[in-house]
Amino acid sequence: MLNLVTYLNEKRQIIDHALDAAMPAPDERPTLLHQAMRYSVFSGGKRLRPILCMAASNAINGTDDNAITPAIAVELIHSYTLIHDDLPSMDNDDTRRGKPTVHRKYGEANAVLAGDALQALAFEILADSTMPDSTKISLIRELAGAAGSRGVVGGQVEDIAAINVPPDADTIRWIHLHKTADLFRTAVRMGAIAGNATAAQVANLGQYAESIGLAFQITDDILDANSGGKRSAIDTPSNCMHVLSAQDARKQADEQIVKAMAALKLIDGNTIPLEAIAQFVLERTC
Ligand code: IPE
Ligand code: IPE
Ligand code: MG
Ligand code: MG
Ligand code: MG
Repeated sequence: MLNLVTYLNEKRQIIDHALDAAMPAPDERPTLLHQAMRYSVFSGGKRLRPILCMAASNAINGTDDNAITPAIAVELIHSYTLIHDDLPSMDNDDTRRGKPTVHRKYGEANAVLAGDALQALAFEILADSTMPDSTKISLIRELAGAAGSRGVVGGQVEDIAAINVPPDADTIRWIHLHKTADLFRTAVRMGAIAGNATAAQVANLGQYAESIGLAFQITDDILDANSGGKRSAIDTPSNCMHVLSAQDARKQADEQIVKAMAALKLIDGNTIPLEAIAQFVLERTC
């Protein structure tokens, strides 16, 4: 039987080691920028997206070595989105993971620039990897598509716009899909592509991850709403708890996990860790 805690810890160690190796040293000029980038990346994130990337590759017989570069590229993008998400012009949060946010510790301009640099680094490490050129191009395309205006940035723009126009349930779902689920889907698709999956495997794993991502943002909204302002400084208008009862929000998260499991059934491979992670997303407390 899989011990999920052990599994997650083992993958986290591989990911942390690779991130450390891929990032500029803290004493490399400009030191403040490199320290800010490292502060953001090494401050206790769950590493869920890179773990999913590796688990997807493993599911279709890819190795950790196949998946590690896309895995850390996704985590660098994730870290950049969190730095920018916390800025005064966005969610204006003073703490993340129980520590001062990057702009609180390094100043707003350095936080913006650290985010910019993490985003560029993600694409640089994919381009520099030893994978075949055709695989690299597919991975770079995947990540750019998910990160850009049709993905996370688009989702964040509508999330911010919701401050002026309270969103309905459909709009909230659209925001969740793009600000959160797009990066989950891409993490898993990249792991599959790096592990030489078939087109059908990539599509089914992508569907699994999209559902996980939607469930993840619903559980994030529930945790935020129940935290009494500790997890999030502002009462985010796109929080689904504004339009759903706690019971209905849970039900929607459950439904997404059922959908994710159904997509996994179509994969011919070892999907046990992916199944366990789906359950973890539903039950998480942080
Ligand atoms: C936080 O994601 C941002 C959302 C999409 C809700 P995580 O909760 O995965 O962030 P860390 O990296 O584990 O702190
Ligand atoms: C964050 O959503 C989504 C991205 C960073 C793209 P939230 O604003 O809900 O995330 P937290 O609650 O600050 O982690
Ligand atoms: Mg936000
Ligand atoms: Mg936020
Ligand atoms: Mg939140």
